Amino acid sequence: EEREGVIKEISRLCSFSNLKELEVNKIGRSTPFIENKAFSGEEIQAIISSQKHLQAQDTNIVLSTIPKSGTTWLKVLAFAVVHRKHFDKKKNHPLMTSNPYDLVPFLEYKLYVNHDRSSDLSQLPQPGLLGTHMPYSALPNSVKESGCRVAYICRNPFDTFVSQWHFLMKVRPKTVAPLSIEEVFDMYCKGVIGFSPYWAHMLGYWKESIERPHKVLFLKYEEMKEEPSLNLRKLAEFLRHSFSLEEEREGVVEEITRLCSFENMKELEVNKSGKAILDFGNENLFRKGEVGDWVNYLTPLLAERLTEVMEEKLGGSGLTF
Ligand code: A3P
Repeated sequence: EEREGVIKEISRLCSFSNLKELEVNKIGRSTPFIENKAFSGEEIQAIISSQKHLQAQDTNIVLSTIPKSGTTWLKVLAFAVVHRKHFDKKKNHPLMTSNPYDLVPFLEYKLYVNHDRSSDLSQLPQPGLLGTHMPYSALPNSVKESGCRVAYICRNPFDTFVSQWHFLMKVRPKTVAPLSIEEVFDMYCKGVIGFSPYWAHMLGYWKESIERPHKVLFLKYEEMKEEPSLNLRKLAEFLRHSFSLEEEREGVVEEITRLCSFENMKELEVNKSGKAILDFGNENLFRKGEVGDWVNYLTPLLAERLTEVMEEKLGGSGLTF
């Protein structure tokens, strides 16, 4: 091999100048949805940068989720609640003209992506809503140690998986081979896609919400679907923006619930076009918005496997679906 020049060959193959010119390295994006990993390099860099530089204020609010568990919904609800005195809910409301991801920026996709310095949070309208998919343990210290509050929404892993799979199919570049639902399911059960393992993500916030209920609010997608107004009141109270008796009488709770509903949001022109996060089309953020859609996609065998994983990982925690 020495005589045949194999070392030189490998060096040339792996050289910067060669790899840079390969077609496969000029297209696509390296994301956890494409690769068999829970976090992409860009996400890790942005997380580290936010850990180093974010100076969260007591008034800030962090909205956290695992992908496809209700991020968009939580963002619109929180925005509508904390800014309800500033805007008319029937006309010219920012939620009707701006995508939720522009109104509540992600730490790892907007504020700390591609740079290693502080982000100017003073640009955000007060109290400053921040979004993230980070696990609790990875949140910047200033979030954990300041008076800033953290609201988390969790969704049953069956529907979350199905939603993730659809999303992945939509955003996966046409230039790479498609993945079967079984392949993605296997990654999900092993906890190697999309900020997984999902059980560790949920349990991190779940435990914190029990130990420090004033710090972390734990909401469930299914309960919010079942009783939207009740859960909206809970969220508003936690965010220190409780509804007054007068607002209750005027039906403000129901107005916000309607404004933020899946049916309303999906039909808004601003949510049908454009790209608010990376390369993902806004229309991909709204699919069915139902509870229990997983029965249309998971075979009994797949469902049994996920049930076993959930029993093993979540059993005894008190977190049930
Ligand atoms: P489905 O794919 O099951 O329809 P995320 O916002 O974390 O990406 O989660 C996406 C899921 O939330 C999608 O689920 C989407 O339809 C649903 N969703 C988006 N906006 C919603 C809303 N306002 N109310 C309820 N569900 C919503």
